[in-house]
Amino acid sequence: MSKSTAQIRQEFLNFFHSKGHQIITSSPLILPNDTTLLFTNAGMNQFKSIFLGQEEPKYTRVTTAQRCLRVGGKHNDLEKVGYTARHHTFFEMLGNFSFGDYFKQEAISFAWELLTSPKWFGLPKHKLLVTVYAEDNEAFNIWAKNIGLPLDRIIRIGNNKGGPYASDNFWQMSETGPCGPCSEIFFDHGDHIPGGVPGSTEENGDRYIEIWNLVFMQFNRKSDGTMIPLPTPAVDTGMGLERIAAVIQNVHSNYNIDLFKALIKSIIQITGTTKIHDQSLHVIADHIRSCAFLIADGVLPSNENRSYVLRRLIRRAIRHGYTLGAQKGFFFKLVSPLIHAMNEGAEILKKNQDKVEEVLKTEEEKCVKILKNGLLLLNQELRKTPGNILNGKVIFRLYDTFGFPVELIEDICNERHISIDKVGFTLAMQEQRQKARNASGFNTNYNNILYITHKSKFKGYDRLQLNAIISMIIVNEEIVDTIYSGQDGIIILDYTPFYPEGGGQIGDIGTLKAHHDTCFIIKNTKKYSQAIGHIGTLSHGKLSTGDTVLAQVDEPNQTSIRLNHSATHLLQAALRLILGPKVMQKGSLITAQSLRFDFSYDQPMTQQEIRQVEIIINKQIRRNVPIEVHIMELNKAISLGAIALFNEKYDQYVRVLKIDDFSIELCGGTHAHRTGDIGLFHITSESGNASGIRRIEAVTGEEALLHIYYPYDTLAEIAQLVKSNHRNLYKKVNSLIAYTHTLEKQLQKLQNQQIIQESLLLRKQSITIKNTKIIISHINILEPKMLRILVDNLKHHLGSTIIVLAMISNGKISLITGVTKDLIHHITATHLLEYLAKQVHGKGGGSPYLAQATGINIEALPTALTNVKSWISDRLN
Ligand code: ALA
Repeated sequence: MSKSTAQIRQEFLNFFHSKGHQIITSSPLILPNDTTLLFTNAGMNQFKSIFLGQEEPKYTRVTTAQRCLRVGGKHNDLEKVGYTARHHTFFEMLGNFSFGDYFKQEAISFAWELLTSPKWFGLPKHKLLVTVYAEDNEAFNIWAKNIGLPLDRIIRIGNNKGGPYASDNFWQMSETGPCGPCSEIFFDHGDHIPGGVPGSTEENGDRYIEIWNLVFMQFNRKSDGTMIPLPTPAVDTGMGLERIAAVIQNVHSNYNIDLFKALIKSIIQITGTTKIHDQSLHVIADHIRSCAFLIADGVLPSNENRSYVLRRLIRRAIRHGYTLGAQKGFFFKLVSPLIHAMNEGAEILKKNQDKVEEVLKTEEEKCVKILKNGLLLLNQELRKTPGNILNGKVIFRLYDTFGFPVELIEDICNERHISIDKVGFTLAMQEQRQKARNASGFNTNYNNILYITHKSKFKGYDRLQLNAIISMIIVNEEIVDTIYSGQDGIIILDYTPFYPEGGGQIGDIGTLKAHHDTCFIIKNTKKYSQAIGHIGTLSHGKLSTGDTVLAQVDEPNQTSIRLNHSATHLLQAALRLILGPKVMQKGSLITAQSLRFDFSYDQPMTQQEIRQVEIIINKQIRRNVPIEVHIMELNKAISLGAIALFNEKYDQYVRVLKIDDFSIELCGGTHAHRTGDIGLFHITSESGNASGIRRIEAVTGEEALLHIYYPYDTLAEIAQLVKSNHRNLYKKVNSLIAYTHTLEKQLQKLQNQQIIQESLLLRKQSITIKNTKIIISHINILEPKMLRILVDNLKHHLGSTIIVLAMISNGKISLITGVTKDLIHHITATHLLEYLAKQVHGKGGGSPYLAQATGINIEALPTALTNVKSWISDRLN
């Protein structure tokens, strides 16, 4: 039975107490005298003035289990919570501190003893590795000489963050003040988890996890960057309790430690959810901790600063509860199970339980109303959102009318891969403020009114370039008179040929040009109220309001968009012919490269139906009929059978797009002149994206031709590869597959024979040391994967034995060690492997009975195999 998190916390404190440290209680999450910190985020925060020499320490050795919050400010892990194995907003940091007492030698020895001594945490030494600051030879030597850590497990990390002392291994409290090199201890979670050692390019993987940071406060950094040695060096260490618990309890994710398992079990019970593997459970388990402790430490939810962080956390947790299906108030009921799960870590909560529950309950009641109404509206809006950007005005309405936090909207959109139009939101907010000001009769600002009422006229149906006047410029969300070279911004014109994103069609790209090579490169075009905004960068010159520019749409791009848009209309009509009139458009995305069409239909289309749709559309293309546009009254359009989008608002006069008698739809987009312009239509995929909604992706024109060529080109390449031609290819590939099967069988047979022979030979060569049969050999067999079978075979025949085999293939050494059960109290296979692997620069692992590694130092192999004999002998007593 492994240790509980509560036991681990207590053992840590007991250990340091036994080394003369005073146990100090955790400080609150808010430090009253520190305005530089939003929340306590490290164990050393409460001792800041001692480190700075402004306060005399009462004790020179102390130890704490400090509650910390990393949300907002410099350390913000909020977005990652629930989606990774190790991120929390709230966590406990275990630490030991020396104020002018011991330094590197003791700090390292203490850490090593606590982690590895069987009396304490008893972690396997070979699973630990450390980093030190590149120039810190003192720390390096302590690890190498005093602790005896193999040199390949001490990694030096230099200034890897661009600048002197800017390093993962140089810790600074802030720009000035005490700082120093640090040494971090990592745990290897095993080679089944991807990730590389610290300092390597794969260091961000989950395999090697930092568990403890030992900081050696050695200097005082001045504002001019000089480093003055401290008169009394100090030690500050930090170890995440949840991480070390995961290591000791042998689980990979922090959320699988006893504390979280118990808490998650309560969340499942209290919410009554059936989604027992949902990520939302992690989010709630994390957030109940931060929320409960924040309230216990005196924060109340409101709309300012820290209180807003709390409110945001509560609302986020409650929203996740509702996605789990919680019907009524659930969040406040988690306080009690939390106190139970955290044990001694929850003293402060226990004292304030009633207050914490009351605050959470009231806030939850408020939040539920907001969430219910807001979510309903948000879901409606998301359903009719064309493309994948949520309109800024909609966000503003949710925020303004329902008090729905913008971050929550962003959160929900993130989950659905939809981005949010922040510029549009800011503009809507400015507009609202202006209206409020006007209503109050103060501060009427002509420019602001101009922009609110400003309209741009779209001229792009029949022109792709024209001269226009700049009516407004926005840079960094502010209205400005002039935009300068290199700046990003939004330019609004009186007239424009640029189509603004809408109706599923993406916004146009192109340029605005003026005198002296002035050029604004447009990356997108969008509607802001009645105005059309050209979003881009001024690459040369400067532009001011009132300037005349030549607005030029990127013509090939717009032409491709037109073909795809007209093809989308043909697609809708063809789908209704083949699948029936219940097919209704649910969304579309029309770009220059392809088109996407979502529609209601409750089953996947068959291959034959897809073909039929393609055939019908291509027939309409070959008919080359005109694509006509008529402006008419809405009622008349509807009576003519024009398809209109449900939920869309239409003016009294509408634009109707008619393709002969085949298709008639209301549409504001740009289109080809005749169906023949489309050239060719090809469906690239048909899939389901939500219940009852199917999605078709397709291409037209030259893009369609390229897609159709692709399988032919691939077939030709395959034919060449297998030395055949199109006609005989199928037969040829079939015979090759049959031939491969025969070869595999023969190879298997040969390998079996080789193992039998090799095993016989090795048994003859076996030696006996102290009554134990030992086989040590450098062998030559077909494949390294046979080594394992060979070792099993040898063990089977010999009954009691120690085996070391090595082979070289592809320039690498494959090592295997095997020990039968009766001998592992002398030597384990992993121990044996470790001894050998070290000498040949190898890496690997296994069980006490069987272990494998690969190594690279081939020259060292003969000596290693010679030495291993006496090494084994020494251990056989
Ligand atoms: N103060 C050090 C840290 O937070 C231990 O990593």
